[in-house]
Amino acid sequence: MRIRKHPILSFPEKDSVPFYYNGKKLYGIEGDTIASALHANGVKKLSESINLKRPRGFYCAIGNCASCDMEVDGKTNVRTCITPLKAGMEVKTQRGKGRLHGN
Ligand code: FES
Repeated sequence: MRIRKHPILSFPEKDSVPFYYNGKKLYGIEGDTIASALHANGVKKLSESINLKRPRGFYCAIGNCASCDMEVDGKTNVRTCITPLKAGMEVKTQRGKGRLHGN
């Protein structure tokens, strides 16, 4: 899911950053936001609506819409499109505004 080869741009190697998504170990790279790391791993559904469970993902990608809200290290409503990825983060899908799967 990442652009690795481009005719006029170059992409230097970056260190990988391990994190957990719904309990599964994934890897991002230095400089990723949580959402960009998830997209790079093929995860596009970041949250879902409360009643109809409609998928939510990237929408504005600048921190203004809350479509990418997820639970991060136990804290709900984290805007993952603007939150830098850190090693060891535990990221979980969020349903609605602060309701989590299984709660
Ligand atoms: S995609 Fe809109 S706040 Fe993250």
